[in-house]
Amino acid sequence: MSAALASRKLNPVPERLPVFDVEALRKDFPILSTSVHGKPLIYLDNAATTQKPPVVIDALRDYYEGQNANVHRGVHHLSQVATDLYEHARERMRAFINAAVSCEIVWTRGATEALNLVAHSYGRPHLGPGDEVLISHMEHHSNILPWQLLCEEKGAHLRVIPINDQGEIIMEEFDRLLSERTKIVAVVHVSNALGTINPVKEIVAKAHAVGAVVVVDGAQSAPHTPIDVRDLGCDFFAMSGHKMYGPTGIGILYGRADKFESMIPYQSGGDMILSVTFEKTVFNYLPHKFEAGTPHIEGAIALGVAVDYLMRLGMDRVAAHEHELLEYGTKVLQGVDGLRMVGTAREKAGVLSFVMDKAHPHDVGQILDEHGVAVRSGHHCAQPVMQRYGLAATTRASLGLYNTKADIDVLATALEDVNRIFS
Ligand code: ALA
Repeated sequence: MSAALASRKLNPVPERLPVFDVEALRKDFPILSTSVHGKPLIYLDNAATTQKPPVVIDALRDYYEGQNANVHRGVHHLSQVATDLYEHARERMRAFINAAVSCEIVWTRGATEALNLVAHSYGRPHLGPGDEVLISHMEHHSNILPWQLLCEEKGAHLRVIPINDQGEIIMEEFDRLLSERTKIVAVVHVSNALGTINPVKEIVAKAHAVGAVVVVDGAQSAPHTPIDVRDLGCDFFAMSGHKMYGPTGIGILYGRADKFESMIPYQSGGDMILSVTFEKTVFNYLPHKFEAGTPHIEGAIALGVAVDYLMRLGMDRVAAHEHELLEYGTKVLQGVDGLRMVGTAREKAGVLSFVMDKAHPHDVGQILDEHGVAVRSGHHCAQPVMQRYGLAATTRASLGLYNTKADIDVLATALEDVNRIFS
């Protein structure tokens, strides 16, 4: 256990490393040196979840070995230590996305819960019959279903912004759908199935002009590109810890303080109140109003450590590295016989989704696995995207900060094997 943490001395803002050295940082992920079916692991399923550096795993162990206590509930030393670490992690998340104040950061179980929270606590009181919620055709199910269910309940309408063959939102259609009936626009920042980076800043400006609030699903953007929620101007931004090199079961909802203040609680119970009588309850200040019950304390602390790790590397350099890999991977995969890319937007993050003439995506995934290559095959929890392209599934290689051109080369060799087997 770290003595510095036990004495409540909190880590300063991390200093940026002098260079981004992928070979050096790969050593931070021992799992990348393991084998699968006797072959070196090539991990290309980062959109599903990322691997964790030992500093993150250590933070979980440190908490249980030397800091374990409940937060916001005790005057004893350990409770103060745990509370400081937990709130320190919140402050680090604030800095990571450039929110104005740390009370705009609410811990959730993940991006899914964050989006459900907005639908419940903002959407439910604000939507009525005839109102409209706009989403795009490339949303993950977690940014479709909360709005679909809410619209059904309220007699409101779910409208879908179409996408073109490249997998880009058709902005003229967005303009056409946007009206004074639009109360909420909910869009993904980076599509998990296509890799498209959406023009969120422009979408926010246009939505705000008709008085709509904007909810951004940032699960696939926050781990791969610098995020500045104030520059984007969005009202809400959802993130998932385990896709950002942090633990599972922890995520973040950013919300503008004025929006959060006006919202009803999500869940009710301990810690989200200032006072309770049988006649009346006064809810707690932000952000605690939205954090009922004992939270995922060690998850939040370890996610703060993951964010320190990312800040040390520099998200601009992570984005540049992954972009170079994306360009290389696109070129290499386009050279594989019978392979067709799905998602060719001009603005893209590190997602290489494709289908092959001769083999079903699940067979492709299985053969790649035999080569030690981990990818995802399926609908990627985005069935309407698949329907848009007349597909049931794709194979998806998704990049992370530790991937290299050599990983892509192994992927390409394994795909040639798919062609050989199915020829
Ligand atoms: N949403 C995650 C993915 O795209 C699980 O794989």
